[in-house]
Amino acid sequence: MTISQKRAAVILAAGKSTRMKSSRSKVLHHVGGRSMLAWVADLARSVGAEKIIAVVGEMNADVRAEAEQLGLEIAVQEPQLGTADAVLAAKDALSGFEGNVIVLCADAPLIREETVAASFKALEAGADVVAVGFVPDDPGSYGRLIVENGELLKIVEAKEASPAELAVDFCNSGMLAAQCTHMFNALAKVTNNNSKGEYYLTDVIEITRGLGKKAVAVQASADEVLGVNSRTDLALAEQAFQQRMRALMMDNGVTLRDPESIYFAWDTYIEPDADIGANVVFGVGVHVETGAVIHPFCHIEGAHVGPNTQIGPFARLRPGANLAEGSKAGNFVEIKQSDIGKGSKISHLSYIGDSKIGENVNVGAGTITCNYDGYRKHQTIIGDGAFIGTHSSIIAPVTIGAGAYLATGGVITKDVPEDALALGRAPQTNKEGWAKRYRTAQEKRQKEKRQKNKKDK
Ligand code: UD1
Ligand code: CA
Repeated sequence: MTISQKRAAVILAAGKSTRMKSSRSKVLHHVGGRSMLAWVADLARSVGAEKIIAVVGEMNADVRAEAEQLGLEIAVQEPQLGTADAVLAAKDALSGFEGNVIVLCADAPLIREETVAASFKALEAGADVVAVGFVPDDPGSYGRLIVENGELLKIVEAKEASPAELAVDFCNSGMLAAQCTHMFNALAKVTNNNSKGEYYLTDVIEITRGLGKKAVAVQASADEVLGVNSRTDLALAEQAFQQRMRALMMDNGVTLRDPESIYFAWDTYIEPDADIGANVVFGVGVHVETGAVIHPFCHIEGAHVGPNTQIGPFARLRPGANLAEGSKAGNFVEIKQSDIGKGSKISHLSYIGDSKIGENVNVGAGTITCNYDGYRKHQTIIGDGAFIGTHSSIIAPVTIGAGAYLATGGVITKDVPEDALALGRAPQTNKEGWAKRYRTAQEKRQKEKRQKNKKDK
């Protein structure tokens, strides 16, 4: 990306979120596994904004904390007197900044990078102020963009619009960009003489034009400007994000057997020629390498899935699961914070936690690493080529040497040397004829009981 002029962003996040009916501020609700605020901050970063200011209300302590964590500068807007007033709150943070600034809304997480980049480019190409418009199915209460001969004349809020203006279907997304000094010069002139008694950011267009400057509109698609105000909107945003990810994955060469039933997080990274079955959910922090096959009904989060691995069906990979090439986690297998070496197989009904498993290890069905003593987690180490018998309970901390063999059903409490056999179960004793004697005694008792009952009647 070549950026000829400096870029900054102001993210509006001071609103109240009454319609979410949530104890959490609206912009902290997640889409694709991260907050809407994080989405917008990331967007600003990816178009090269070197200063990003989040405008928060005094009541939004949670937003402020997240914004700080995201490395944003904070401006407080209190009280909230409208969108122009909100941007003005960022004035001090931008004093001395010579470049272009875009205003983004923290509750519109789906804006595309290209749209924001196009706004900056329009400024770099000579426009003094740029608004981002879109054509919704229902223009409703959106502000209307009045464009003539390629120039944006003004934005009218629906409440102030004439019938002719209301008939315009090119609507204001809420995003607006300008050269920084023009922006704040214009903002200083905005009044609240309107039906809402608010300071409208949209007035910046007419004010700037009044100074002989040029305003233009950039068009976004309707699906990216969706603003989230309610849980229903949040679900719509999630759906839109998932659709985008599914398309992107398939474009990148990933096979999705039933795209509509596969869910991704914002950072899901899957290499070409991985094959994903139906009903698979990816949480954040997953990397799947090429040739991996993920069978239906898996839940995968914070995991690295190596090349040509086999996962599921019904596997759960939790954070820190790291499966090397050609390894396998089969049905009803849960793996957490563990390295599984090349070619190792955990095929059925097992829990592997806090473990380091070498290469070509076979872990039998029903094996459990007992990693937690109620206070601390302990590690299990299994060397290359070890054979873990079915239904082994491995009580960590413990090390099983390479090539060792655990007999089935063992409770393993001590380290096992390389190539040793560990028998960790009570020896079996057979009692000749016991079952027959037992059955005879029980049958005799039942017969006597029936006879007694008959007599008593
Ligand atoms: C705004 C636009 C409208 C556009 C619509 C798109 C104005 C005057 N109108 O209207 O043209 O079609 O967005 O959704 O800009 N906010 C603050 N502080 C404030 C007021 C708002 O931070 O004092 C934040 C809100 O939290 C929200 C954003 O700014 O994220 C937009 O504000 P909102 O009140 O929703 O504006 P609309 O009336 O929807
Ligand atoms: Ca709104």
